[in-house]
Amino acid sequence: MLAVPAAFSFIVTIDGPAGTGKSTVANSLAKRLGLEFLDTGAMYRAAALEALDLGIDPADGARVTALMRGLDLAFDWKRDPPELFVNGRPVGDRIRTPEVTRAVSLVASNPSVRNEMVRAQRLIAARHPRLVTEGRDQGSVVFPDADVRIYLDARPEIRARRRVEQLATKGIVTTEAEVLAQILERDRIDSTRADGPLICPNGAAIVDTSDTDVPEVIDRLAEIVRIRAGEALAAGDAGRRGNSASGGAHGS
Ligand code: DC
Repeated sequence: MLAVPAAFSFIVTIDGPAGTGKSTVANSLAKRLGLEFLDTGAMYRAAALEALDLGIDPADGARVTALMRGLDLAFDWKRDPPELFVNGRPVGDRIRTPEVTRAVSLVASNPSVRNEMVRAQRLIAARHPRLVTEGRDQGSVVFPDADVRIYLDARPEIRARRRVEQLATKGIVTTEAEVLAQILERDRIDSTRADGPLICPNGAAIVDTSDTDVPEVIDRLAEIVRIRAGEALAAGDAGRRGNSASGGAHGS
C-alpha cells in the first residue's frame, strides 16, 4: 500500500517517550509508505559519541554546540535500518552503548545544541522531503505543519518490561524496577526541559501501544496516514509547504 503518490513531498512525525516502540514502528511504516525513516535520536546520540571521543564534557553546551556545527550528519537510506554517517564515517552500534545513552540526555537538554539539531533535521528534510521522522519534538517543534503527526504512548511499566527484554537480548541483566526508575527519570527530563520538551503535538493522533503488538500498531498508523493523506491531498496541502512554519524544510 502506497498512500502517498511519488511526486509529493510528505512528512509523518512520530513522537513519544522511550519504550513505546517508535523506532521499530517508524522504520516499518516508512517502508510500507515508500518514505524514508529519519531517526533523530540517532543524531543526538552521534553528537554525544563525538563529544565523548574528543574528550568534551557532554554537559558543556558551548563546546558541544561548536562541535555540532562542524558535523555533517547524513543517512544512508539504502541500508536497513538506515545507517547514520558522521563526516562520512558510519557510526554503527557505537551510538547505542550505555555510556552514550547516559551522555545523550545531557547533550539533548542543551537549547543551543537542540537549535543546531533542528537545523540539521530541516536540512535533511529539504533534501529528502518524503520522511517518517521519529523523536521527541518532531511534530511540535521541527515539523509543526507535517502532513501527519502521531504521538505514541505506553504505560511506564510496559515500557520498562520491553526495555528489560531488549537488554536481555544483548546479555545485559537488569530488573524492571531499576529500568522503571530510569524511564521515569528520563520522562521527567524530556518533558520538563525548557527547549523542545516532549509534548503531544497539536492535532496529533495519539496511539497507545501498551496492549498492542508491533504489526498491529503499524497497521493502525498506516490507516491514520491513509485517512489524513487523503484529506491533505484533497485539500492540496501535501507538497506545497515550502513557505510554511517548518522553516522551508520542503523548499528544495
Ligand atoms: O530515542 P533515543 O533513545 O535514541 O533518543 C536518544 C536521546 O535523545 C534521548 O535522551 C532523547 C533525545 N532526543 C531528543 O531530545 N529529541 C529528539 N528529537 C530525539 C531524541
